[in-house]
Amino acid sequence: MISYATAAEPKKLEALVVPVFQDKGFDPFVKALDKAHGGILSRVKEMKDFEGKKLQTSLLYTEDKDLPRILFIGMGNAKELSVARLNQVMGRATLYLEAKKLTNVGFAVPAAVVKKFGAKQAGRECVVGIEIADYAYDEHKRKEDRVTHLKSCAFVGLGKQTRAFAAGMDEGQKIGAGVNWTRMLGNVPPSHMSPAYLAKEAEKLGKENKKVKVTVMNKAEITKHKMGCLLGVGRGSKNEPKFVIVEYMNGKKSEKPTVLVGKGITFDSGGLSIKPASYMVDMKYDMLGAATVLGTIKAIAALGMKKNVIGLVPTAENMPGHDAFRPDDILTNMSGKTVEIGNTDAEGRLILSDALAYAKRFEPKEVIDFATLTGACVVALGDGGPAGLFTPVERMAKGLLKSAEASGEWLWRLPLGEMYGEMMKSQVADIANMSQSRYAGASTAAAFLQFFTDYPWAHVDIAGSSFNSKKGKPWMRVGANGYGVQMMVEYLR
Ligand code: BES
Ligand code: ZN
Ligand code: ZN
Repeated sequence: MISYATAAEPKKLEALVVPVFQDKGFDPFVKALDKAHGGILSRVKEMKDFEGKKLQTSLLYTEDKDLPRILFIGMGNAKELSVARLNQVMGRATLYLEAKKLTNVGFAVPAAVVKKFGAKQAGRECVVGIEIADYAYDEHKRKEDRVTHLKSCAFVGLGKQTRAFAAGMDEGQKIGAGVNWTRMLGNVPPSHMSPAYLAKEAEKLGKENKKVKVTVMNKAEITKHKMGCLLGVGRGSKNEPKFVIVEYMNGKKSEKPTVLVGKGITFDSGGLSIKPASYMVDMKYDMLGAATVLGTIKAIAALGMKKNVIGLVPTAENMPGHDAFRPDDILTNMSGKTVEIGNTDAEGRLILSDALAYAKRFEPKEVIDFATLTGACVVALGDGGPAGLFTPVERMAKGLLKSAEASGEWLWRLPLGEMYGEMMKSQVADIANMSQSRYAGASTAAAFLQFFTDYPWAHVDIAGSSFNSKKGKPWMRVGANGYGVQMMVEYLR
């Protein structure tokens, strides 16, 4: 855990990070620092060793024992300043300092950042960026090979804005903890991360916060609820499916809840329609929709948000065991609707369909599902691109796109429509889990989900946006990235 503080002067720090814009002169605070150190900062900029280009770094050594290092980091051009850029700059600097095994550091906060976002949001987003960078999935490495984490971090040069900034810091830590918990859940190897393990983790939310109530249904209870699709998908694995309900009812009694649904496939082998070897890699991440829902509720509960939010997590392992469901099987959803199985690898939509049917009982204001649902979404938007947003509700599209932008996450709307519904028709059941065509796979999957909804609903396909598979980013280490938590905290705020 990093402890955060604010300070008037950068004193007794191993390093001070100084973010600089490419097209702007030094802030008064940086000018004073430059003067105190014999003009080394201005000299480096004049020599063009460091120009302030986005994420550019330059480390300066001083003769000051109280402040032996100054790390310049580039903000890019002032007009490009966004929450994403701020998060990334803070993250990049954090990784740089941690690589040097420094633990007691400071950050100068540019005046333009405080001016653009306000002190509180600036404080929040600086800390979110640092927290996300600080997280490492390295518990399976030798102790000496693990990351050195920052211990203390002081923000300097804030003047009158110090108090508001500090209030934001506290929020940033809570949001960062939600994001990093989501990432941790995603990173756990699939031999450990079973439906039962995921349910146990969810139960921790209830112990952590009195306002959160967690209920876990086992296979017998799932059977009693007639969730035939979730049961069908779970049949090929010796790890039985679970259905997790997380209730955070901290809003007005009269206010209908927002229901969040997350795909919790703890490993997706494809089932009997087994995946080729290279496509099976990374399928431990197939529960990241569930992890996003759980991380969001962790964050909003820590923030004490006055909202009614319910999380639903159907979770199963998709394996080709002796009792596995088959292509040509027909499964019956909780609602009574029947589904013809064309491909057992289209399992996410099946388990989600039971959760979407279950959501009805809460008379939801709205339902939003998160799922690593389709390879087609990755083909359309890119690996590391935006998540795909599907919703027939304009209000929800607007709200979600705005929240994504405001929290530095990237989201792009893709189409729904009758045509895609037609493509999911079955001759022998109410609907098929596979389209008749190989085109528009992300939209036909969304159309399948839509078939089970009769309330305001949105679907977010995070297959290409939720993990950095083999290597990290300059501001974040490898593995799950916690996509969606920041955006949902913003949306619910
Ligand atoms: N879990 C996968 C989707 C996925 C692909 C997630 C890549 C993350 C990265 C999903 O269950 C799946 O296998 N979908 C199939 C559906 C097809 C059989 C209709 C796909 O996208 O190929
Ligand atoms: Zn699959
Ligand atoms: Zn899947």
